[in-house]
Amino acid sequence: MILGLLKEHSEETRVALLPENVKSLTELKVKVLVEENSGEKAFTSNQLYTEAGAEITSRKTIFNKAEVLLQIQPPEESDIKKIKESQVWISAFNPLWDTSLVKEFLEKGITTFSLDSIPRTSQAQAMDILSSMATVAGNKAVLEAALRLPTFFPMFMTAAGTIRPANVLILGAGVAGLQAIATAKRLGAQVEAFDVRAAAGEEVRSLGAKFVEVEGASEDKAAGGYAVEQTEDFKKKQQQAIDDHAAKSNVVICTAQIPGRKAPLLLSKEAVERMKPGSVIIDLASSTGGNCELSEDNETVKHKGITIIGQSNYAAQMPLDASRMFGKNVLNFLKLIIGEEGVLNLNFEDDIVKGTCITHQKEIYNQRVKSVIEKI
Ligand code: NAI
Repeated sequence: MILGLLKEHSEETRVALLPENVKSLTELKVKVLVEENSGEKAFTSNQLYTEAGAEITSRKTIFNKAEVLLQIQPPEESDIKKIKESQVWISAFNPLWDTSLVKEFLEKGITTFSLDSIPRTSQAQAMDILSSMATVAGNKAVLEAALRLPTFFPMFMTAAGTIRPANVLILGAGVAGLQAIATAKRLGAQVEAFDVRAAAGEEVRSLGAKFVEVEGASEDKAAGGYAVEQTEDFKKKQQQAIDDHAAKSNVVICTAQIPGRKAPLLLSKEAVERMKPGSVIIDLASSTGGNCELSEDNETVKHKGITIIGQSNYAAQMPLDASRMFGKNVLNFLKLIIGEEGVLNLNFEDDIVKGTCITHQKEIYNQRVKSVIEKI
């Protein structure tokens, strides 16, 4: 199999494979073509890729020769035109949300895999790019909040008096939320967290944070561990609880998401206005509308003394470790489609391969994406 690693567009700093992963692939008899300067923003030179066994070449050659095309971001329109039916496209393109892209792939008969659709099973954990990137985001979000806050995070007892620790509220205790809790605790803050999944309560408490309980949340086993849309009655109770806890907090980290849906609105403009001036809100759900009414994706908004940062790609601010985690996840996934002697082998009997495949031979393979597209 010939694998082509493509250079990301200008705003992306990560790269889908690092030389250490290229080395593992060449040992499996895969030929790896790397677009020139792919690793530049992740502090990885062409030379390191060459030493690992890759061939550095142009984007054009990769589109002509590779059987599998790999990058992190979805393809741009100009690239979609170049992908041949015989090629396999692998990236992360949020198919539950960006359904128009899925339709385009379908019409063109391209075989695509979206790494953000890897099933949430124990076997697939080592391939889960969402968990890896959420780990980076949860950590970075708290660090950014700590730097922006006009007060300390930890408690200090000094000759100049006692400084109270910061109060941090985390909305959504999935992978990013739990990482945010861990980082905020390490920095000495007092941490509370809220989630609609009852199972999250135990995880929150095990990290030493307080779980804000609101009774009556809906859960659905068929959602595969993800949250589902809540009833109006629950939303009202939840709103009151979040408003009261946010008013006492110096920092709110928003991480709540529902796959394929707009992010739940948890922090209203009025709730923000009840917070203390100088407080900081970081909204990691901003690319799908945000949990805070005032957040804007990739923008910093100031409202009555409160700073609201909408940031959905913190991973790109830590390109080296984010690429390291991403690359390892991709390598583990690629091993499922590499047959003997390094040949491409798409085994759709494998649940992970089937679940991650979005389109193949003009059919939608991922069942959740299929049901979303059928409803449109
Ligand atoms: P996510 O990024 O989809 O959402 C973040 C969090 O927001 C979730 O905990 C969710 O319950 C919460 N949330 C959604 N709506 C909310 C609302 N209205 N109010 C408050 N909170 C709300 O979640 P993530 O991190 O992807 O994890 C989702 C599930 O998948 C978890 O059960 C996690 O343990 C599981 N998981 C399993 C993996 C595996 O087995 N391979 C890997 C990673 C996660």
